[in-house]
Amino acid sequence: MAILVTGGGMVGSQIAAQLLERGDKFLLFDAAPPLHHLSTVVDPGKVKIVRGDLLSMPDLIHTIRKEGIDRIIHTAGMLLSGVRERPYDGINVNIMGTANVLEAARLEGVKRVVFTSTGLVSFGAVDPAWPEPVEPDFQMKMLTHRPKAVYPVTKFACEYIGLCYHQLYNVDFVTVRLGSVFGPFLGTASSIPGRTIDQFIRPAIAGKKVVVEDPLLSYGGGADYVYSKDTARACICACDAAPEKIKARVYTVSGGQFVTFQDLIDTVKKIFPKVEIELKHVSKTGAAGFPYPNTQPKDISRSRDEIGYVPEYPLERALKDYAEWLEKYQRMIV
Ligand SMILES: NC(=O)c1ccc[n+]([C@@H]2O[C@H](COP(=O)([O-])OP(=O)(O)OC[C@H]3O[C@@H](n4cnc5c(N)ncnc54)[C@H](O)[C@@H]3O)[C@@H](O)[C@H]2O)c1
Repeated sequence: MAILVTGGGMVGSQIAAQLLERGDKFLLFDAAPPLHHLSTVVDPGKVKIVRGDLLSMPDLIHTIRKEGIDRIIHTAGMLLSGVRERPYDGINVNIMGTANVLEAARLEGVKRVVFTSTGLVSFGAVDPAWPEPVEPDFQMKMLTHRPKAVYPVTKFACEYIGLCYHQLYNVDFVTVRLGSVFGPFLGTASSIPGRTIDQFIRPAIAGKKVVVEDPLLSYGGGADYVYSKDTARACICACDAAPEKIKARVYTVSGGQFVTFQDLIDTVKKIFPKVEIELKHVSKTGAAGFPYPNTQPKDISRSRDEIGYVPEYPLERALKDYAEWLEKYQRMIV
């Protein structure tokens, strides 16, 4: 039996590296596998990669049958910026793509489906007066607190559809709501948090000046960063967790620290004491252009209790690890 990992990007590639290390049987399923990037994270000769589209039910069913898939970790999809630019495609890929994964899992008797959602589902809710850390089952006013972008709406829809597939059709569906993911990616990261970190680390490594000027890549309040290696581990924890431990089915995954933009700058300066940073524009609103700054961290205690996820990469350790990877591969980045 084998695990199907949809998506071989920033998160999927790290899942592949960790599954390979454990000796698990698995394969990556991606419509456009980023092969150059993958070659910096895993030995491509040891990883089976299938070029397939989430929107093609035959691609999914064929792969599940042929490879004897019994669990799926579903990371493929479009992220915030992509969905902002192409909302219709984002709705199609994220919602119909996930519906296909769930339906294929139901038809083929797959044991578990782990879905990667986003902490942004609460971004419309968490206004500056939010009183406490945000737990996965946060109290939400259905209309005023609805997510304020199409991307998190697609993720919310998938969470609800998946929970119905569990309740009505016995598909063992588990969601991990990822915080602000960053980490190795050869090329421009799809994620805004990935690019927020890159605007510091890539010039710092190259001995160049850092200029902060893109309004989307700074923020007021705090951010729940999570290193891609922790994210991958959380997905694998959710895939492995004993069924009797799983109660909530929706788990928040962050690095366990609430990081202000100034904290981020201070940590970068600690690692690269000589770096020069010019702040041309620092946004005071929420990350990625959202209206509210985040004033409360995410509560990750349920993830620890039910799926056994505990972050291993606090910001400084994560940035150092990422910098090591960049040192090695920066010449391949065009
Ligand atoms: N990176 C973040 O900050 C972040 C935060 C929260 C949640 N997430 C979620 O985590 C998951 C993984 O994120 P990532 O950073 O690895 O993204 P990524 O863009 O690096 O990787 C996504 C992969 O999905 C593939 N893909 C897209 N459409 C497809 C389709 N129709 N069929 C098959 N493959 C397709 C792409 O080719 C890409 O390789 C996503 O679902 C994302 O929404 C990411």
